[in-house]
Amino acid sequence: MSGPSRPRPADDAHHGCAARATALHADAFGTPHACLGCASGRVNLIGDHIDYAGGPVLPMALQERTWVAIGSARGGIDLFVSEWRDDVASSPTIGSDASGWQRYAAGVLAELRALAYAIPPVTIAVASDVPVGAGLSSSAALEVAVARAALELIGAAMPARELALLCQRAEHLHAGTPCGIMDQWCVTHAQPGEAILLDCAALASVPVALPRGLAVDIIDSGVRHALRDGGYAARRADVEDAARLLGIARLAELPEARWHEIDGLPPRIARRARHVVRECARVRAAVEALAADDLARFGGLLLESHASLRDDFDVSTPEVDALVERFGGEGALGARMTGGGFGGCVIVARRA
Ligand code: GLA
Repeated sequence: MSGPSRPRPADDAHHGCAARATALHADAFGTPHACLGCASGRVNLIGDHIDYAGGPVLPMALQERTWVAIGSARGGIDLFVSEWRDDVASSPTIGSDASGWQRYAAGVLAELRALAYAIPPVTIAVASDVPVGAGLSSSAALEVAVARAALELIGAAMPARELALLCQRAEHLHAGTPCGIMDQWCVTHAQPGEAILLDCAALASVPVALPRGLAVDIIDSGVRHALRDGGYAARRADVEDAARLLGIARLAELPEARWHEIDGLPPRIARRARHVVRECARVRAAVEALAADDLARFGGLLLESHASLRDDFDVSTPEVDALVERFGGEGALGARMTGGGFGGCVIVARRA
């Protein structure tokens, strides 16, 4: 898979994906859908595992999108179907019990209803060009696409900021992943192909122009993670422990003059903390490098980020490391894992 570094005209694949969602809806439920919602995946250029520490991150929305076709269900329950592998292994699974991916969709509906949005029982069909579990934010794309479709169904709208926070809450409460805000924010605020610098403490973002001479490829390791299997939550807990031990609310607030205090933390917590404070600095340096068209510096920062996620944060895998070695060296500017880790994709920066 390859991800362009800047917007390109909408291509047929997106219409194809929307068409797949509508066809799936008609096939599975025997009724036409009432409306559609969609959302992009995202790739994070730099700044991983620092959003929940209040750090700055530099994600980019993908051209690849998830589409949701929605209608009103005749019975009293929500029904879900998707074209994902689990479902198509036999005939499409339709169920009201929210398990697997359905928890994300059901969670969003539950959170909308909790805010008194009068969403009736719905039929939901999902088609997606965002690879699942690849670190490209298929979860946030699904959540936001479901929310947009459900709001459209009742003729309601919600500001992007509230939408992002609602989808994050759905993931926390219904899918059990204590994620940060990067994915839902990027998906609700960035145009496809647009990179943004997001301050996760202030919850404010600005677009970041990528130099014309930069290309970013996305390579899928094929290794699939489950962020919910505890690794992600454990990392977040370590980072929060570090902040608590250092007497600050969020680790990203630690000024450089106090970085030496990290050495006094228990060894594992110290390694996590070292990653966080340095990764925050790398994001700021990366934004400066992009503004100065210093592509070599940008690539170097990607490599440093990867080494830190591998050695201090322990979220890479041998397969992902091998891809970074293979593609990030000669001929490229740099490479790194992207997203939550435990498998998934690497990004490779090169001269266009
Ligand atoms: C996942 C989470 C994000 C973020 C990344 C790692 O994608 O959903 O909030 O923490 O991992 O940067």
